[in-house]
Amino acid sequence: MDANEQMSAKCEVQGLLKSFGSHVAVNNISFSVNQGEFVVLLGPSGCGKTTTLRLIAGLEKPDDGTIALNGATVSAPTRHLFVPPQRRDIGMVFQSYAIWPHMTVFENVAYPLRVRRIGQADLREKVARVLDLVGLAGQATRSATALSGGQMQRVALARALVFDPALLLFDEPLSNLDLKLREGLRIELKNLQRRTGLTSIYVTHDQEEAVELADRIIIMDHGEIIQIGAPLDIYIRPKTRFVAEFISSANIFEATVLDVLDGSLCRLGIDGGHELHATREEPVSVGDRVDVVIHPEDCTLAASDASTGGHKVRIVHRQFQGTSTRYTTDWAGLAFRVVALGTRDLIGEGSDAVLHLPVESTRIVPRQAR
Ligand SMILES: Nc1ncnc2c1ncn2[C@@H]1O[C@H](COP(=O)(O)OP(=O)(O)O)[C@@H](O)[C@H]1O
Ligand SMILES: [Mg+2]
Repeated sequence: MDANEQMSAKCEVQGLLKSFGSHVAVNNISFSVNQGEFVVLLGPSGCGKTTTLRLIAGLEKPDDGTIALNGATVSAPTRHLFVPPQRRDIGMVFQSYAIWPHMTVFENVAYPLRVRRIGQADLREKVARVLDLVGLAGQATRSATALSGGQMQRVALARALVFDPALLLFDEPLSNLDLKLREGLRIELKNLQRRTGLTSIYVTHDQEEAVELADRIIIMDHGEIIQIGAPLDIYIRPKTRFVAEFISSANIFEATVLDVLDGSLCRLGIDGGHELHATREEPVSVGDRVDVVIHPEDCTLAASDASTGGHKVRIVHRQFQGTSTRYTTDWAGLAFRVVALGTRDLIGEGSDAVLHLPVESTRIVPRQAR
């Protein structure tokens, strides 16, 4: 085990509560992050992600609940316990680069070590090592103002890593960068986290980023946790319509349970007279109102003369995207999206077609309480 792994913390949050005036920003949330894990907090703007991160860092004081790092409680208002940020051993990277323009790259990165009164030789070695790690070797003497956005974010990352923190927190660190750079840095960041084994909590509102980076995703809405799970698990089994809408571009329809058949099979009626078969995870009864979720890439379209069964649709729009083609179809008044891989058997706009919905990919999710 290398030094970083030994230092890596487990973070435990229990019943965390934070209000600003009468507005509850974080509403009684609990979760834990395992050693070496990369957890992403995902949710729409204003759902309480940044507040959660700032509470963990000690930049905000909670109203209630506990936060523990590596088993040691750092925040517990009922016991009047509050460890200040500089004693929590946490590295943070923000959306705004927050680096000092009047300093060189070296001095920016060395700053946390100077605060900790690390000796000169040790300091030089640590800064060099971490600049190498983030791909800035040879840039040490450059002025921070001369850097591009991507390079500034590397400096910010180096500064967060240089003192071997027990936990790394990221607040939308890539959202100020352009798309290409963002995608490149995303992969680098993930690789770096794997190599160092640093326990990380990463905040974003970008589902693509979350799915690619996370070992586990925590979906938040209105200050509450809606679902926690591995990216694939949440994608396939969203607990609510909100989660399905947020994590994917699935087809989602309100429906009524018409029949509960064998096993987990149900017959559903969608408003407007459509009927289909679907799979349920939770028990449902005839007459229940449910949502049905079908991912566009799980469905197939066939020319209408080449297929039996399925549902009659018309191709309204076809968007060729190289490796895949996106179709919008009209299923007797219902807009239904399909994504087809490859270039064989493309169907033209205006054509009739047959839509096949595999029952195992046609999933019922319980109606949302909110
Ligand atoms: N310092 C503050 N004072 C007042 N309201 C705040 C403050 N910080 C955050 N809020 C409010 O708390 C809610 C959650 O904010 P935030 O945690 O920043 O959300 P997110 O990061 O998910 O966009 C928002 O409604 C926001 O306006
Ligand atoms: Mg935020």
